[in-house]
Amino acid sequence: MGLQQEIDKRKTFGIISHPDAGKTTLTEKLLLFGGAIQVAGAVKSNKIKKHATSDFMEIEKQRGISVATSVMAFIYRDKKINILDTPGHKDFAEDTFRTLTAVDSAIVVIDVAKGVEEQTEKLVSVCKTRNTPMIVFINKMDREGKDGFDLLDEVEQKLNMKACPLSWPVGMGQDFKGVYNIYEKKLNLFSPHGKQVDEDIIAIEDLSDPILDEKVGERLANELREEITMLEEVYPPFDRESYLRGELNPIFFGSAINNFGVKEMLDAFVEIAPGPLARVTEERTVEPDEAKFSGFIFKIHANMDPKHRDRIAFLRICSGTFERNTNYLHVRQGKKMKFSNPTAFMASKKSIVDEAFPGDIVGLYDSGNFKIGDSMTEGEQLHFKGIPSFSPEQFRFIDNADPMKTKQLNKGVLQLMDEGVAQLFVKEDTNRKIIGTVGALQFDVIQYRLEHEYGAKCSYEPIAIHKAAWIDADDPAALKAFINRRKNNIAKDKDGNHVFLAESRWILGSVEEAHPEINFHFSSEIRSK
Ligand code: G4P
Repeated sequence: MGLQQEIDKRKTFGIISHPDAGKTTLTEKLLLFGGAIQVAGAVKSNKIKKHATSDFMEIEKQRGISVATSVMAFIYRDKKINILDTPGHKDFAEDTFRTLTAVDSAIVVIDVAKGVEEQTEKLVSVCKTRNTPMIVFINKMDREGKDGFDLLDEVEQKLNMKACPLSWPVGMGQDFKGVYNIYEKKLNLFSPHGKQVDEDIIAIEDLSDPILDEKVGERLANELREEITMLEEVYPPFDRESYLRGELNPIFFGSAINNFGVKEMLDAFVEIAPGPLARVTEERTVEPDEAKFSGFIFKIHANMDPKHRDRIAFLRICSGTFERNTNYLHVRQGKKMKFSNPTAFMASKKSIVDEAFPGDIVGLYDSGNFKIGDSMTEGEQLHFKGIPSFSPEQFRFIDNADPMKTKQLNKGVLQLMDEGVAQLFVKEDTNRKIIGTVGALQFDVIQYRLEHEYGAKCSYEPIAIHKAAWIDADDPAALKAFINRRKNNIAKDKDGNHVFLAESRWILGSVEEAHPEINFHFSSEIRSK
């Protein structure tokens, strides 16, 4: 098969949601359709849940939170679908943000009763800044929830999306009868636990057809007629180009646990979702069909195999063909590297791959050479853009609690920072080290991992910092003067960039106002330099 055919076959996406909306359940059902996992019936068991959440790490088992962001691939209708799993827990949001740089589209899961929740808002806004095409799946229709029109309003207002319902629910909760597939003009009758049979799908070209009353009752049939008329007046018809530009968002309704409405969405997904997209680098735009291989590291995962110290660096292939045992350029380090056992992920199984293509993710065993954002090429100097490092929101001084293990501690801290677990700042005045994280849980993760993986012990001391802002200025003298004046609040990140540490929102505001000559940035793009 040629490169173009391989590219055409691939769809790489992520599922995003607030915790508990049903991301894991939906992932399982998708894997089931792809034959990637087999279970009698579509009933969720813990075992499957475990695979679906890629519960690789000891710490994850202990905490029951999906720390890992894993990759699950399956074949469906001749397409190779790569799902990148994203931790829903807000303390691991940064991991999710970075994973979203490696997808070409996303599915957003919303709980019908809870509507749009905080974490969904954050994640969708990240996708929006990149114009990532997004499909929305409104889940748990078997439960009482919000009115469909209210949900569409919420989706438009809170998520800043342009809603385009492609299916519409008939009833809800106890009264839930199914969904009307607006796109295909078919009524899909609900029966719990995924026992749909062909007779449950009824073509209804004209909604005035009395068969509708027969199937769902007169009251719900009339409601559906009215609602569809209203939808047609208010919402635009589906247009694939607008969806691909990230300007129109198809909406589906269903119930993941009952495997209802999932297949419809998956079928639409394989038809409309984009294949591997071009990626922007500082030098130029890289098209997937370029003959030469290129890719970037978006995630580093430690010790998936507890017997080995190795880490796995996740590489997203952006162009060309990646081959096993072939020398490629590690652009930041300027050295050639080859990989004898690059790993592909098919659901829970790992296997060694000889070749991989744009859109694919391969795991590279790494003994400390990679950091997030690194590029690999056949020789060209390319630096992929858009891999963000967000301003942390929690800060603590980190101290060495075992003086005999200083070397181990320093090594461990640096490696964990390369993995993107947290950010390290060194204060200019005292040289003390500060760890900054997005969520409080990371402090426990760092302590645990330093001890178990590096044999080092650390302790923390509280520090009153509200926010870190990367600073620069057009006039280098102005920056220097600001740094001198504010020495107590200045630190350097691990790449040597200056950061202003503000004690409170108020101080940050007043300093920003007093120093218009300084630019304050709240995310820094990770550069592979
Ligand atoms: P997450 O990954 O987004 O955090 O959510 P997850 O799939 O774990 O689902 C959260 C809870 O919602 C689970 O219940 C799951 O069974 C339930 N759920 C998912 N889809 C549906 C649906 O369509 N309808 C209904 N009624 N419930 C749904 P749990 O009690 O927390 O876990 P479990 O004991 O079922 O594993």
